[in-house]
Amino acid sequence: TLIEAFGFLLFVGGDSSEDEYAKVDWDNLGFGITPVDYMYTMKCSSDGKFEQGQLAPYGNVHLSPSAAVLNYGQASCNFNPFSIIENFPDCVRYFGLYEGTKAYRTEDGRLLLFRLDQNATRMKMGADRLCMACPSSYQFIDAVKQTALANKRWIPPRGKGTLYIRPLLIGSGAILGLAPAPEYTFLVYASPVGNYFKEGLKPLNLCVEEEFHRATRGGAGGVKSITNYAPVLKAMARAKSRGFSDVLYLDSANKKNLEEVSSCNIFLVKGNIISTPATSGTILQGVTRRSIIEIALDHGYQVEERAIPVDELMDADEVFCTGTAVGVAPVGSITYQDRRVEYNVGEESVSQKLYSILEGIKTGVIEDKKGWTIKI
Ligand code: COI
Repeated sequence: TLIEAFGFLLFVGGDSSEDEYAKVDWDNLGFGITPVDYMYTMKCSSDGKFEQGQLAPYGNVHLSPSAAVLNYGQASCNFNPFSIIENFPDCVRYFGLYEGTKAYRTEDGRLLLFRLDQNATRMKMGADRLCMACPSSYQFIDAVKQTALANKRWIPPRGKGTLYIRPLLIGSGAILGLAPAPEYTFLVYASPVGNYFKEGLKPLNLCVEEEFHRATRGGAGGVKSITNYAPVLKAMARAKSRGFSDVLYLDSANKKNLEEVSSCNIFLVKGNIISTPATSGTILQGVTRRSIIEIALDHGYQVEERAIPVDELMDADEVFCTGTAVGVAPVGSITYQDRRVEYNVGEESVSQKLYSILEGIKTGVIEDKKGWTIKI
């Protein structure tokens, strides 16, 4: 129950009405916005420190027309971002500014979140790259937990979907010249979702994009900056109009190596070896990507993070995509120039095996020996 006290909405624990579900057609959830009850907001002061955030009814955000996010795609307060990431190697410094994570319902009625520490760290890295102030990991995780709990009647019944949670960090302060914003706002909102692709769980048909690129070296492709998403829409729309599910990008320097798909990372399987492009600045460090690598290693696969020439597509046994929204999606075919290659899919596939283990952990069916899940 949420009550209002001292100007804040406070969560004060359960009563039987909380166990009721929101009125949603759970059997027909796609990946779209369903307005939920609450969102979380926290602002930073001019010293770059985020103050006590709070839940409020879900609704529109009030912004100045000169907010840095609207004009320059951001934004930093008087703040030293390197102090928080000095333990990270150089290769990940240039990477974080929205996030995506999900809340799951288990068979026995528990509510679980997944690896939020990874999202919190990735947001810090992104904030560094875009010169923005950022909430601490504690603040990030606490905000996501509060948002999930306050909206728990929107977490779909087991097997029907998940509550997708979107933490968003924006330069909300007004600024005209190009510079970091004088104020930042951290928001967390959510929506119940089903499958990301309209194909549902059916294999994806991808095409390799040769004209447009998702990211360039030295750019912001490795962080979850909002600026990485609008530029892919044209390539995606063209591919969809030709009957493909999405686009697989190549590196912009040589048009030779695989990068990622518009909304997810990519993996190739050949025998016992699973390969995925190395995250050297242009590839998003997906939490699902990292989790699948760890699960694959635990189950005897060899995993290679490296440059993957596009020609290797011709030779792969299996290809699959990973992402928080996408999950683990099998690829049925890839078209490159005038060649179309088809891949193994189905119950016996490596992707299906890894997906089942990952979903099992996330939904409490498989014991979480890794400490990845957070009970709320
Ligand atoms: C996610 O997987 O959480 C993403 O942010 C991808 C987005 C295009 C839906």
